[in-house]
Amino acid sequence: MIKGEKTASALDSVRKQKVLAGLEPFKLVEYFSFSSLAVILVFTLILSWLISENARKVMLEQNEEYSLLLAENLNQQVFRRFVLPAVIRHGGIALRNPEQFELLDGIVKGVTQGLKIDSVTIYDSSKNIISYSTLPDLVGKEGVGAAEYHKALKGAPNSRFTYSGTVLSIMGITTEVSCELKTFIPFRQVRKESEGGGELIMGVIEIEKDLTGNYANIIRLQGRIIMVSSGVMAILFLVLRFIVSRAGGIIERRALERLRLEEKLNQAERLAHLGTMVATVSHEIKSPLGIVRSTAEILEKRISKLAPGSEHLARIVVDETIRLNNIVVEFLDFARPPKANFLRGSVNGVAVKVLDFISPELKRQRIELVADLKPDLPESNLDLELFYRALLNILMNAIQAMHENGKLQVSTRSLADGAAVLQIIDNGVGIAPEKIDQIFLPFFSDKSKGTGLGLAIAKNILDNHGAEVAVESTEGHGTTFTIKLPPVMD
Ligand SMILES: Nc1ncnc2c1ncn2[C@@H]1O[C@H](COP(=O)(O)OP(=O)(O)OP(=O)(O)O)[C@@H](O)[C@H]1O
Ligand SMILES: [Mg+2]
Repeated sequence: MIKGEKTASALDSVRKQKVLAGLEPFKLVEYFSFSSLAVILVFTLILSWLISENARKVMLEQNEEYSLLLAENLNQQVFRRFVLPAVIRHGGIALRNPEQFELLDGIVKGVTQGLKIDSVTIYDSSKNIISYSTLPDLVGKEGVGAAEYHKALKGAPNSRFTYSGTVLSIMGITTEVSCELKTFIPFRQVRKESEGGGELIMGVIEIEKDLTGNYANIIRLQGRIIMVSSGVMAILFLVLRFIVSRAGGIIERRALERLRLEEKLNQAERLAHLGTMVATVSHEIKSPLGIVRSTAEILEKRISKLAPGSEHLARIVVDETIRLNNIVVEFLDFARPPKANFLRGSVNGVAVKVLDFISPELKRQRIELVADLKPDLPESNLDLELFYRALLNILMNAIQAMHENGKLQVSTRSLADGAAVLQIIDNGVGIAPEKIDQIFLPFFSDKSKGTGLGLAIAKNILDNHGAEVAVESTEGHGTTFTIKLPPVMD
């Protein structure tokens, strides 16, 4: 099933290519807008990562500073309130002595009470062993102090930050969030300025702080930034997609329209040239043809007297000149179409007249006529005579296309917008798909005696009426012509 000249299926591949070529610059814009969206999304993710990384750094620095101050204070307190009294009273430090251990424990817990500290551990300087810890299980363990311990022994306070978990942890996809900060500072002898001399490092104090809560907050912030920016991106994407698809549609329609107009213009130019030529030739033929005809008529009369029985020879000349004259008139009609004179009228009225005119021919060929003309059909702007001719040409083709069991259906109906639609359906031979685009072209004919101007003339007339013509045909099954006349504007 193929559509008529002005329907989408009539678009040949060249035409499609032209439209696509017209859309190319727009496709570039589309590509650019989507790629820039992707770039923005990547930048947003990087930005969210940078922000959370910065927040983590600030949190770490603050807590480290805090731990260092606390450790310094612990150092002072333990030295003054534990180391010195222990040396004086017991002659040295022996944490295996429960009395000494409890004294130290009391001091450490007193200093760290109320502060968010998880544990305090003191390492020995002579041996990598834990001398004291607020976590009793750790006391006495050897070799636990790692690189940070050795660094602190050399007099350099330092920290170890361990954390696990990402944005995915909040959603429960990966491991739980955990974060801890361990600060190591040298445990020094505290001397007054006046006492002078170098500092003696007696061990290492380790302060452990659990920062899981803070770290989880930072990850949540990162998650929120990603979610908000993804949401904004998604909205932007949808808006962009909507704009791009609408713009694409508009541009495609315009490209098609432009192409249609160009084609129309080209065809009009070609037809104008052709028309001039045809008009000149037809005009030159018409006058001598008239003379040939009248001469033959005279001859016919004379021959009947001079050579009775041979009049039919002259009759042949007369008949053929009449046929030739009809063709010439058709050529002239096409080349110089008469000016249309529009009046409000009903398509039904014209249809009834044409059907009346062709009814003897329908009877002769035993073609069944099914007419369904809706009485409430709105009026259209019509040149009654020209519209009659257009309709006649279409109907004649339908008749010529049918043989036995011919059935011709003619119907009218109205559309909601006030347009009138006329449909002519035949069950004739149909039109081959490769020919359907050409049937409206002048001189296209597959009939031995056809001029190929019938539909070209009809099309001109219908175009002048502002009508849309669509043709659907299936070879071997028949053809449908649909004519849509625009509503009358008041
Ligand atoms: N209803 C139809 N069924 C089948 N083929 C059709 C039909 N209408 C038109 N055609 C095809 O379109 C061609 C062009 O039609 P058109 O009326 O322009 O010229 P024609 O009928 O061949 O000659 P004429 O100038 O005598 O009308 C026809 O030759 C025919 O092949
Ligand atoms: Mg015809």
